Amino acid sequence: MIVAIDGPAGSGKSTVAKAIAKRCGLTLLDTGAMYRSCALLSVQEGLDVYDPENVDRIVEISQAAQISFEQREDGQGVFANGQDVTKEIRTPEIDVAVSPVSAIPAVREAMVAQQRKIAEDTDVVAEGRDIGTVVFPKADVKVFLTADPEARALRRAVQRAGGDAAKDKDATADKQAVDEILADLKRRDAYDSSREVAPLKPAEDAVHIDSSLLSVDEVVAKILSLNDGLAAMDVEAEKKAEPAEKPQPQVEVPAQNPKPAAKGASKKASKAAGPLHAFANNSFEDYYDHAMSEYPLPAKAFFGVVVGIVGGVTKVLWPWSIEDLDKLVDNSCGRMIIMNHGALLDPILVIVSCSVRGVSVRPIFKSEFNANKLTTWFFSRIGGIPVNRGTADMKAVRRARAALERGEHVLVFPEGTRIKSDDEEVKIHGGFALMAQLAKAPVQPVAIVGARDLRKKGQVIPKFFKRVYAKAGDPITFESLGIKGKKQQVEAMEELAMKKVYELRDLLRSKYPGKM
Ligand code: DC
Repeated sequence: MIVAIDGPAGSGKSTVAKAIAKRCGLTLLDTGAMYRSCALLSVQEGLDVYDPENVDRIVEISQAAQISFEQREDGQGVFANGQDVTKEIRTPEIDVAVSPVSAIPAVREAMVAQQRKIAEDTDVVAEGRDIGTVVFPKADVKVFLTADPEARALRRAVQRAGGDAAKDKDATADKQAVDEILADLKRRDAYDSSREVAPLKPAEDAVHIDSSLLSVDEVVAKILSLNDGLAAMDVEAEKKAEPAEKPQPQVEVPAQNPKPAAKGASKKASKAAGPLHAFANNSFEDYYDHAMSEYPLPAKAFFGVVVGIVGGVTKVLWPWSIEDLDKLVDNSCGRMIIMNHGALLDPILVIVSCSVRGVSVRPIFKSEFNANKLTTWFFSRIGGIPVNRGTADMKAVRRARAALERGEHVLVFPEGTRIKSDDEEVKIHGGFALMAQLAKAPVQPVAIVGARDLRKKGQVIPKFFKRVYAKAGDPITFESLGIKGKKQQVEAMEELAMKKVYELRDLLRSKYPGKM
């Protein structure tokens, strides 16, 4: 994940980038600090950075400069050649010296190389002038942040006086200081925009945001809304969204509220969800948000009966079995189970087989199935989690993630709909890999054959007494992919896990000829 934020000095880039880094767990890459460090090292050698004679030496200094960052309680520390330069690079002297230094092509080359290197190993939010245009032209999110020069000058002046205009909207500063800063900003804007190499200009595909009248939170929210993957990394939303969705129950939790069962139980309490009522009066949302082991007794009893009847009846009518079931019912951690999909029987096999062995499986189902109260009620009682397809359903992502983190299995059919023939064009829905990655859970491929043959197109009554076979594959962890970068990992997992599903399916097809 690469988030690129470009814009002129004082547009709020640093504050916004810092907030995004914190909320989404990204590395903050303050590229301005890198050019400032080069300027400082040059000034420390006594060089006049405006003298063209000194360009070669400035380039040497910059090429040799080892610049690194350190996350601290009070912000980010900047180090140049081992020296803590956090404060020194923010003085008015360096404000002036940095423009000519950052306009030297060889200095930029050296810095861009360091910036790309940093982003090789980690997800970053990078802020600067040329991030979306030069450094990361393929960034996942590109923003060009602007603000009125006056608003920018005031922010800087408040910052210099030790205040924080981002937090205090009514903050004021000394008029003379504001005017001086305004003049410097205008001078730097002109310099940065008109220089030949990597001038300050928005990338063609950048989203423009004017921060003059927006709070930091508003700008951050806008940026997060630009990319589903980024929004899903936002831990604040996770904290805030759930309690806001539903009021806390009015009653105290009775002492006999079912505790998580030992087997297949949730390893963590249901985060962000209020307690369930022990017997009744829980909303559908309560069921989606809680571990199945925490469900009230009547719901558990109902589920047990459904599993018994559906499992028994389907086994008689379509004798089914899952090869390597042990791999599936291992409840040492939550797994994202993915499966090919041809018939209604598919989820039944997995849910029944796991449930009778004490392992909870949460099927992700299309919210279209919640057509009426009865189906909504039913799906909520069997542990289903609804997903609005065709939209970025972050609530579903959060719920699936929470379930996986609690140690429950989540069942997804990436093919989206039941596939009746190999000739059908299949679009794989990759959301499963993102959910698994957020929860640091492995993805487990499962394949099924025979179920889709039971009912031909247009037939209402299925054929009976035909065997159905499924097979569980080995769980795939993200570490085992050996790939760095979260986005690349998600893409690789989507591809590999689906490939494994089809390999398992083909294995079954060759073992049981005629079964599709
Ligand atoms: O963002 P800042 O004010 O700390 O940046 C300091 C200077 O560095 C600024 O005047 C322009 C320059 N800079 C640049 O040329 N390219 C970048 N990617 C970042 C900053």
